[in-house]
Amino acid sequence: MHLTDIEKRMRDGEMGEPVRTAMEILMALGEIYGAEKLIPIRSAHVAGLSLKSHGLAGTEWAEDMANRGARVCVPTTMNVIGVDRSRDLHLPEAWVKDQLRIEAAYERMGCFGTSSCVPYYFGFVPRFQEHIAWAESSAVVFTNSVLGARDNREAGPSALASGLTGRTPLYGLHLEENRKGDVLFKVSVPLTNLADYGALGSYVGRIIGTRVPVFERIQEPSIEDLVYLGAGLASSGGVAIFHAIGVTPEAPTIESAFKGKKYEVLEITAKELEEGKQKLMSAKDRKVDYVAIGCPHCSLNQLKELATLLQGRSVNRKTTLWVHTNVAIKHLAKQLGYVQVIEDAGAVVTQDLCTILGNPEALGFKTLATNSPKMAFYAPGSNGLDVWYGSVEQCIEAAVHGSWNA
Ligand code: F3S
Repeated sequence: MHLTDIEKRMRDGEMGEPVRTAMEILMALGEIYGAEKLIPIRSAHVAGLSLKSHGLAGTEWAEDMANRGARVCVPTTMNVIGVDRSRDLHLPEAWVKDQLRIEAAYERMGCFGTSSCVPYYFGFVPRFQEHIAWAESSAVVFTNSVLGARDNREAGPSALASGLTGRTPLYGLHLEENRKGDVLFKVSVPLTNLADYGALGSYVGRIIGTRVPVFERIQEPSIEDLVYLGAGLASSGGVAIFHAIGVTPEAPTIESAFKGKKYEVLEITAKELEEGKQKLMSAKDRKVDYVAIGCPHCSLNQLKELATLLQGRSVNRKTTLWVHTNVAIKHLAKQLGYVQVIEDAGAVVTQDLCTILGNPEALGFKTLATNSPKMAFYAPGSNGLDVWYGSVEQCIEAAVHGSWNA
């Protein structure tokens, strides 16, 4: 791989041991994927900050890097950690302590301690065609598809290595030829809420693997709709980019989405959408003891909607309702009164935590209701929870009545 003079000095350890380690990671990745060179990036997003994903070894590795003086040189945000620093959620003490250790290590390296999978909701917004090195599959698919940034599905260590060097190997979705569509999905069923978008993403993710889906006839989706579509695609499949004709920036027309590449055409009807929903449900018992909303983390708009749905209502005393967001959005939602309304109903607005990367199962929950395709996909394996999947209204009803009656 061709290296510039400064990159050779980084590789040789002239900029310190952590930078040398980071260069080793990036060069190994470049070798595997046949990259000819490294390219500059404008930002990084590190993930794998939960004990569930990295174990204690990951904590110790990050602490070692921080102790050896590792410092990021481009804006670097942190993904969700498995703990809420703002309150005691009665999670096991050892778990909380170890999670705080890893967060502290990354903060010492200069990362922003905003701990969220949606940094684009609060100021970290890559521009069109900007090269970045973000981990967290739901964020990667959003930045590539909706913003038109250039990003591969980074792992935690490679994203940190990019944050420390300001570089990433040139391969994958940094190259225009790999961003062309593979399959055109003609969507002939109306998508009316986030759960519909999530189910579509989940259905398509299962059949498309790592190929690039293109959607036709998706009508005026909100940003949150596109976030849920991407989260479904990236969890049940390995999708890192999609296009929606007339919606996303690289697909004003079908021709621009495929750029001359041959493609398959498939139809999405009510049947496929329903199949997408059914595959996300594993629960049999209608009694619901845990409801979780906010995977990816809730936007301010979603918190406003939840406040409206919960105004004057009470969560069932045998059910726990957690709403996941981050410190930035929660601060705004507090100012605007949404947090008060949601918590007056008996729910908890968690900060920088989420169900999959946290461990709510330690509190004894058995059956989850959610409107998130990603949470529904992972919760059986990651948390041992049975899942009901539906709209946010259905989930709030489940929280209020303590049962799934959809
Ligand atoms: Fe975000 Fe956690 Fe879901 S990181 S996408 S809320 S699994």
